[in-house]
Amino acid sequence: MLNIGIIGLGSMGMTHFSAYAALPKVRVVAVADQKFSRPEGAVGRAGNIAGQSSTVDLTGVKKYVTAEELLADPEVTAVDICTPTLLHKALALAAIRAGKTAVLVEKPLARTAAEAREVLAVAEEKGALLFPAHCMRFWPGWDWLKKAVAEARYGAVQSAAFSRLGAKPPVPLYNDAAAIGGAHLDLHIHDADFVQHVFGRPTAVTSFGRAGESGAIEHTITHYHFSGSDALVTAEGGWTRDAEKIPFVMRYAVTFERATAVYELGEKPSLRLYQAGKSAEEIPLADALGYANELAEFVRCAREGKPSPLVSGADGVAALELIEAELESIAAGKTINL
Ligand SMILES: NC(=O)c1ccc[n+]([C@@H]2O[C@H](COP(=O)([O-])OP(=O)(O)OC[C@H]3O[C@@H](n4cnc5c(N)ncnc54)[C@H](O)[C@@H]3O)[C@@H](O)[C@H]2O)c1
Repeated sequence: MLNIGIIGLGSMGMTHFSAYAALPKVRVVAVADQKFSRPEGAVGRAGNIAGQSSTVDLTGVKKYVTAEELLADPEVTAVDICTPTLLHKALALAAIRAGKTAVLVEKPLARTAAEAREVLAVAEEKGALLFPAHCMRFWPGWDWLKKAVAEARYGAVQSAAFSRLGAKPPVPLYNDAAAIGGAHLDLHIHDADFVQHVFGRPTAVTSFGRAGESGAIEHTITHYHFSGSDALVTAEGGWTRDAEKIPFVMRYAVTFERATAVYELGEKPSLRLYQAGKSAEEIPLADALGYANELAEFVRCAREGKPSPLVSGADGVAALELIEAELESIAAGKTINL
């Protein structure tokens, strides 16, 4: 049995809590959230994806108000950090230094690449599993794309366009550029990481961005350059203003030499494959959220004490380095080499 402690029981903490509850040989033994100092306690805010939880049953689970209390609990062996981004570095370091052997950190791994490198260095020194929660790597339909590209199943990729548009979360924190980094960091990092996961490290980025009311980049578009490939790879991310009326957009369209694949989250996720001379093919998608697959992998790695072949602490650092190169490109108005 793996004993988990979750720090931060908001939208993502509840989603993770529910995903663990559905897995064998793992249990959440403790949660820490400053909101337990208030009577309404356990209620959260729903996330962007249908099926995410906004309440959980905490019967039999220890409730702490501070992360320190949870980290001092010897029953907790693995820690899952779902607090706002600005706290990721300090809490990840505290968890590793408290002797916890496996630490999952919600994306981004830290507020900056420099901070993330610090966390990675300490995790390596102490031999702890550091697992940044880059959930798209585990998402049904996105895992399909990773394999299709790796196997060159339909020939080389000619273009790949990713897009992600959603409501700015309706809490004041998201107007704090220093804490959140706008949609560029908060939302678009999902696609920046996934591009790197599928196509490898870009050699350069050309990015465009528009600052929003937070002062940070709230709408962003990047063209990724790769050596030895002329594939046109782009990703767009942004917060919408009238988002209550617009469903969350999570989409990719990838043209290969011999096929085109289009994924749409929509009301029901769909992945269609179009090939010349054939009718459109509906690719069956597992009826699960990527979070469930991601946490199953974290639990497997934590139990076996082995790193995951699907995501590593170094990937968490690399995603932030890419995000920062894109910001540099936006600010300088030119292509930035990596
Ligand atoms: N993977 C994804 O798809 C995804 C989606 C949304 C958010 N996230 C990430 O998850 C993290 C949390 O986002 P969220 O939307 O769940 O936020 P949220 O505001 O819903 O939840 C954060 C929780 O942390 C608690 N908290 C704050 N400071 C604390 C402290 N010092 N000690 C203990 N608890 C504390 C808050 O009370 C709150 O309940 C962020 O880093 C965000 O980037 C990931």
